Amino acid sequence: MYAEDLIKEAKQVLVSANENFGLRGYEEDDAWEMLDHANGEELNYGGEVRAEVRRRFERMVRRRATGEPLAYIVGWIDFRDFRLGIKPGMFVPRLTSEFLASQAIRRLHGRRSPVHVDLATGIGPIVISTARAVPHARVWGLDISAKALSQARANAAALDGGNATFLKSDLFSKLPRSLQGGVDVVTIHPPYVPRQVVADLPVEVKKFEPRHTLSDGSVDGLGLVRRVVDEGLKWLRPGGWLLIEITPDEFRNIRRLLSAAGYVGIRSTHGELRHTRVILARA
Ligand SMILES: C[S@@+](CC[C@H](N)C(=O)[O-])C[C@H]1O[C@@H](n2cnc3c(N)ncnc32)[C@H](O)[C@@H]1O
Repeated sequence: MYAEDLIKEAKQVLVSANENFGLRGYEEDDAWEMLDHANGEELNYGGEVRAEVRRRFERMVRRRATGEPLAYIVGWIDFRDFRLGIKPGMFVPRLTSEFLASQAIRRLHGRRSPVHVDLATGIGPIVISTARAVPHARVWGLDISAKALSQARANAAALDGGNATFLKSDLFSKLPRSLQGGVDVVTIHPPYVPRQVVADLPVEVKKFEPRHTLSDGSVDGLGLVRRVVDEGLKWLRPGGWLLIEITPDEFRNIRRLLSAAGYVGIRSTHGELRHTRVILARA
């Protein structure tokens, strides 16, 4: 069978699955990613597909039709200019976080020995971005998930992120005390979905990504953010930056929290993808 025919069939399966989930979108692109992955290298339209490649591909299409994220099926996700390994059970980095990474990099560049702490680092997209872009920085990625951290370490090792250290840590709790008052930039893309809203998320998210990566279990979704705002001042150097990636509707609430804690220069900014914001504040 030829690649073109297999792609047509797969597209139909995926379009009708997506209709069930109330989604539309990248079915053909997804099908090509899976076919290339099953084949081990890129195929073109007229390429003939071997029987075992076809079987592998059809298994992948069936998984994708259940709503399973493409990243879990192919085992990678592109972020900025690099490719991260990922497995089921880990949070899939969002494109919106590339803006958070670039905001952190801007604030680390030009400092003699910059320190960056990325809380809730997941498989490491933000911290690997800063480690690569600012190789003289010391960067720390912290998360409560041992599984995500082990993937983050493997990703950093494969991507010249040798200046990144990963720790299993509930927010700042396991960070060396010697860093107190010396951190230039703290970033976090927290699990911020209010407890009762998790059920309304798309299938791809709520059925496959672990709950602790989506919500901290609080009613307003700001449980972890409150702790970061409180604890952050102890770790940031005077004038150091706290950067929080979150939905735009939370800006007012978070501005109130930051301002009450004593942060200054509080503002909300966004990159090309407007549906997520980075809130910036200085210690
Ligand atoms: C929305 S994901 C963000 C992951 C990563 N920063 C990214 O953008 O791909 C939230 C992450 O927070 C982690 N997490 C949840 N509670 C935590 C806590 N108390 N301390 C540290 N990390 C936590 C989860 O394991 C998950 O990896």
